[in-house]
Amino acid sequence: MVGGTALAGQRWLVTAGPTYERIDSVRFIGNYSSGKMGFALAEALAEAGADVELVTGPTSLNITRQRINVHRVESAREMYASATEVFPSCRGAILSAAVADYRPAETADHKLKKQGDEGMTLNLVQNPDILATLGGMKSDKQTLVGFALETDNELQNAKSKLKRKNLDYIVLNSLRDKGAGFGVDTNKVTIIGRDGSRKESTLLSKQEIARLIVNTVTH
Ligand code: CTP
Repeated sequence: MVGGTALAGQRWLVTAGPTYERIDSVRFIGNYSSGKMGFALAEALAEAGADVELVTGPTSLNITRQRINVHRVESAREMYASATEVFPSCRGAILSAAVADYRPAETADHKLKKQGDEGMTLNLVQNPDILATLGGMKSDKQTLVGFALETDNELQNAKSKLKRKNLDYIVLNSLRDKGAGFGVDTNKVTIIGRDGSRKESTLLSKQEIARLIVNTVTH
């Protein structure tokens, strides 16, 4: 088990929560991520003695623990800027944020008005992939952990994502189990290592899952 000082002197980056992609001054594209998994990861790392840079999208959660530096961002591009800035000084990173893959090509600085009876088309452009970028920046001494939410060929897709993005571990979230995933307090995961190792959890609280992940990836 990870003790109270096992990670003393190490800095870790965690991303958490959803991103909001602005359409106009009052509307955005978002998702249902609560940030609970990422906040639990930050707490578990700090509990083990690490200094944590927590980059989070909009969430109502708060951190009270010392040694967790919270960077609050809104969009994928802001999360990208913050994460790529702190990563070089970190021993590792765990990216659990639910980042929007696309954003509106244009953002109106006023509230858009309805146009007659017609429908409306939103043009979307792709956001930068933070995980893949950190995979490209990573040194041999750094550990990079991503999450995967897959519906089909889960293990196969997770493994190929691990290779493609140059990760050390990928945490496969279960979509099949009740009580796992967005919004709820519990989760069930499979932690897959670059070396082919595989650790499957039972349905546990997000705090327990976070400790299991931290314990696995910091060894
Ligand atoms: N992620 C990220 N930046 C993005 C998109 C995703 O850092 N722009 C990270 C997430 O935090 C997560 C991992 O990538 O750790 C997996 O996200 P997922 O949506 O499953 O993967 P995608 O790369 O979008 O894969 P897919 O091709 O399956 O859509």
